[in-house]
Amino acid sequence: MTPLTALSTIRRMEEGQLPAPEELARLLSPDGEVLRDALFEAADRVREKHCGKAVHVRAIIEFSNVCRCECAYCGLHAKNSNVVRYQMTEEEILAAAKDAVEAGYQTVILQSGEDLSYSRETVGRLVSSIKRVGNVAITLSLGERPFADYAYWRECGADRYLIKHEISDETVYNRYHPHSSFQNRLACQRELSRLGYELGGGFMTGLPGQTPLTLANDLLLLKKMGVAMAGIGPYICHGETALRGNPDGDVNLTLRVVAAARLLLPRANLPSTTAVNVKGGLTNALNCGANVIMQKATPYKYRNLYDIYPGRDSKDVPLKEQYEALRAQLSALGRTIYENGDG
Ligand code: 5AD
Repeated sequence: MTPLTALSTIRRMEEGQLPAPEELARLLSPDGEVLRDALFEAADRVREKHCGKAVHVRAIIEFSNVCRCECAYCGLHAKNSNVVRYQMTEEEILAAAKDAVEAGYQTVILQSGEDLSYSRETVGRLVSSIKRVGNVAITLSLGERPFADYAYWRECGADRYLIKHEISDETVYNRYHPHSSFQNRLACQRELSRLGYELGGGFMTGLPGQTPLTLANDLLLLKKMGVAMAGIGPYICHGETALRGNPDGDVNLTLRVVAAARLLLPRANLPSTTAVNVKGGLTNALNCGANVIMQKATPYKYRNLYDIYPGRDSKDVPLKEQYEALRAQLSALGRTIYENGDG
């Protein structure tokens, strides 16, 4: 493909046309790299037009690292006996949520491994209690659960659910997730949308087995599933997983994929994911389509135990300070924090 045809792909996507998978794959292939700046600029325009300058800031509370799954890339997989496992109590989770709300965060994300010891009722009670703390949106990110759990939590007031498709190649997905299946994952996403959750999807870039065509299909699948939010982050290799020894995903490629996601999903919430932030890409992501930042609000005594991938938080910064430092960083970029009450 000549740079000129890839440029016309960018132009047409900016106008709202859906590209063919092969065309999008070419834009995301190494050959498309020369058009990186044009792609970033287009994504920045679309973000400015549809989302403005405000950045949504979310607090993630990683309340348990116990997991029944065996994801080939994840350091917390069930068989990793080197992980020191923790489970926060309901009181600890509620206290962490209060801290986050008091610091200024307007969305609380409750995330954990697939830990069934937190029952439908326990999670429901947490959702209702956090809703009483203040005017916050609640996102759940608890993996695959019975649909009755999803329905109950929605009734308790949960607003959003984050469950990524991780990789759109069904064969590769099923190989990396021996405990479940690609079709089940999509069924969960459909059910969550049907229940009225704002659906958060997403995937990793640079997973072994992924090609530019997979990436194009990853993006088109987000569109097809009607996600309101998409977390796109680089794969970061963890030494205690089935995929140990593989190279990390490339941050630059990740940013091109985020930019393409912005063109395809003009109004979606696109975070600079924690994996992008770990790799130092936060500022860049905000300039190529991202409009959301997810920050950890897990108590420090547990934070480094949530070891999905390498990248540690060393300094113990109070949440309020973390939030205000972010405000200053955003303001230096000409951006503001979205503070209108609904996260
Ligand atoms: N590198 C990057 N992201 C990862 N995740 C899990 N393991 C890794 C890894 N090794 C992401 C997945 C999952 C989320 C909780 O963390 O996308 O959905």
